[in-house]
Amino acid sequence: MEENARYAVGIDIGTNTVRAVMGKIGKDGSISVVGYGESVSEGIRRGRVKELSVPPKAIDACLKTVESMSGINVGAATVSINGSHIASTKVDGMIAVGVADHEINEDDLMRIEDTAIAGKIPANRETLALVPYEYILDGQGGIREPLGMHGARLEIRANVISALAPDCDNMRKIFENDVAQVKVHFLEPTATAAARAVLTSRQMENGVGIVDMGGSTTGVAIYDEGELQFVGVVPIGSNDVTNDLATVLKTIPEIAEEIKVRFASGRFGEPGKDIVIKRGRDEYTFSRKEVDDVVEARLEEIFEGVRKMLKIAGYDKRLPEGLVLVGGGSKLRDIDVYARDQVELAVRLGKPEGILGVSEEVMKPEYATAVGLMMIDGMTAEVRRGANEEKKTKAAKKKNGEGGGFVARILKIFK
Ligand SMILES: Nc1ncnc2c1ncn2[C@@H]1O[C@H](COP(=O)(O)OP(=O)(O)OP(=O)(O)O)[C@@H](O)[C@H]1O
Ligand SMILES: [Mg+2]
Repeated sequence: MEENARYAVGIDIGTNTVRAVMGKIGKDGSISVVGYGESVSEGIRRGRVKELSVPPKAIDACLKTVESMSGINVGAATVSINGSHIASTKVDGMIAVGVADHEINEDDLMRIEDTAIAGKIPANRETLALVPYEYILDGQGGIREPLGMHGARLEIRANVISALAPDCDNMRKIFENDVAQVKVHFLEPTATAAARAVLTSRQMENGVGIVDMGGSTTGVAIYDEGELQFVGVVPIGSNDVTNDLATVLKTIPEIAEEIKVRFASGRFGEPGKDIVIKRGRDEYTFSRKEVDDVVEARLEEIFEGVRKMLKIAGYDKRLPEGLVLVGGGSKLRDIDVYARDQVELAVRLGKPEGILGVSEEVMKPEYATAVGLMMIDGMTAEVRRGANEEKKTKAAKKKNGEGGGFVARILKIFK
């Protein structure tokens, strides 16, 4: 292994697909992708773990691809958390920091964060992140970083991202077991992870939203003044379009999927020829109008959900940089055209940018979340301690006494 090389891993547990990306973090902070992989996901419904026994196998299959491509064992990763239980709550708090002219230190910041959260996040929820968007020192607001400033009374306004605690526990359980054997550094909502890989800091400063259009969920994150302002998940996705087509057109899901991927579009009401799908010697014909009606009805529901989130967040029709769409569902032809009319904002398609590496494969909208998770993982201290190490054969591991599964991995991390 290269001296002091750091490896970061992001794993996106989708309803349809598990995707993982490994990056090598250069000394200058540059990130190059050294491995990626995907596998068919099972045991996940609407983004949430519904069965503990099946997902580890999919994770293991996916990581085997990543490990053989990179030659690095995956021991730890940052992982997605998804589902309509993910919530964003505005909180505020105040603490007295002591005598006048006290210099604000790390302890003060930890104390004010605890005060802000206390009593506002129910006990059955886990706080994933607290994002301060303003500090007020002795009545003077608009402060972003109070560390080192002088004052006696500190106030905070922040956004707390939380998820149901049992969902978080289940997500860790599918990683931290004998099959998958991965220590989870952080759980990160899919939309905020994707934002990391796709959005620029300028967009986040001006006001922008990201929409992760998955198979069964649509995640939304809104940024303004450089900070995360809102996260939410609409429990409807692109699989619902497929299922509706199958039901209404009375056809099997495979044919419905082909109709969606090859023929559906976000431009409705334009005359078009009938759609013909071939299967061996058989030919199936579907009315363009009927397909359009089904697709439009579902997309309308999805973007109504997105619009509702924009309203709750206070950003309806007021995001200068508009919305950026990612996820497999964003590949539906001209979906940006449709979305623009529905949300009355500028809409464009996004994909991960600005990373070097082995493959164009991860520069795709459906990889945005996994790439973003990897970038977040790259910022954790434990990666620096070498949680992901050069691949060793099973025999070599045993010889070194490192074959003991998860506990051994943790010990290794904290060495
Ligand atoms: N070219 C395409 N056109 C239209 N839809 C597509 C295309 N490619 C993929 N999709 C759809 O994207 C969806 C899968 O997206 P993605 O892989 O982002 O989901 P996921 O992450 O597994 O699910 P979730 O995030 O909801 O848990 C499927 O419904 C699939 O039909
Ligand atoms: Mg997804």
